[in-house]
Amino acid sequence: MITRPRRLRITPSIRDMTAETRLSPSMMIYPVFVREGRNIIEDIPTMPGQKRYSPDTLPKILERAMNAKIGGVLLFGIPEHKDECGSSAWDENGVIQQAIRTAKSEFPGLTVIGDVCLCEYTSHGHCGLIRGGHVDNDSTLEILSRVAVSQADAGADIVAPSDMMDGHTAAIREALDKNGHVDTLIMSYAVKYASAFYGPFREAAGSAPAFGDRRTYQMDPRNVREAVKEALLDVQEGADIIIVKPGMPYLDVLKTVKAAVNIPVASYSVSGEYAMMKAACANGWLNEKNIACEAVICLARAGADIVITYYALDLAEWMLKDEL
Ligand code: PBG
Repeated sequence: MITRPRRLRITPSIRDMTAETRLSPSMMIYPVFVREGRNIIEDIPTMPGQKRYSPDTLPKILERAMNAKIGGVLLFGIPEHKDECGSSAWDENGVIQQAIRTAKSEFPGLTVIGDVCLCEYTSHGHCGLIRGGHVDNDSTLEILSRVAVSQADAGADIVAPSDMMDGHTAAIREALDKNGHVDTLIMSYAVKYASAFYGPFREAAGSAPAFGDRRTYQMDPRNVREAVKEALLDVQEGADIIIVKPGMPYLDVLKTVKAAVNIPVASYSVSGEYAMMKAACANGWLNEKNIACEAVICLARAGADIVITYYALDLAEWMLKDEL
């Protein structure tokens, strides 16, 4: 007797029924760039297909997100004014606060997540305050807390600190609770590597550091034990969801972190991954629907409960139209 996998007899419906990993629109989060101004929808050259919106044009894309029934949108603000301490990040009329208010008033049922960081708002492009020529972790925590509270005041359902300062989750949790936002969730970038895959994003958000790099606060791509340590600290500090970032090149990290924690884990398929897929598809070297779908499946298979991807809208719409 030969024991076989019996693949030849498998029909599409049996294949679906027995699949070990499933995709759904609700597990995907779509990142959106919002810049100050009016009546703006502009292309992002490094990320074909992605655009920057001003707060007044933002509803156009949010309507698609709502109809596609995705899990939520992650908003990144690009301010007009930058300074040493990133003060427009916590301005109640800042670009991200306006965007959050617009989103929640037009689409109350849409989950709105605010990116909490300083690099888009500081003149030096670093994610924290500069003291003595380097990023100062502890004094940055108070600023990040202000940013998070201002976003919760504007109506954000979830805040997502992407700065990688130590202790950010505990500091933000305490500030949110003190200001009456006990129900606002924290989706923390617990495991974020100092990665070259963020290049297209920095172009899109105007957030490249003016000097040095982010290796004093983001993780070394050579390490995985450290990822577990970072993840456990964030869980202990009160994170509701943790993010592992980037996505596809870090599947081993995702799997290891997932096994170590008891809260949902999100994987961020970052701008460089998107740009690579997009460029190959534009040349006819890869099939876009197939590759975008497989990329998310692989992240889910490795342990992602949630996937943050620039393909979220396309994928969700293809799924709804039964085109995948
Ligand atoms: C800001 C931030 C970055 C990304 C998300 N938040 C860039 C960085 O750390 O330099 C990257 C996202 C992407 O590449 O898609 N701290």
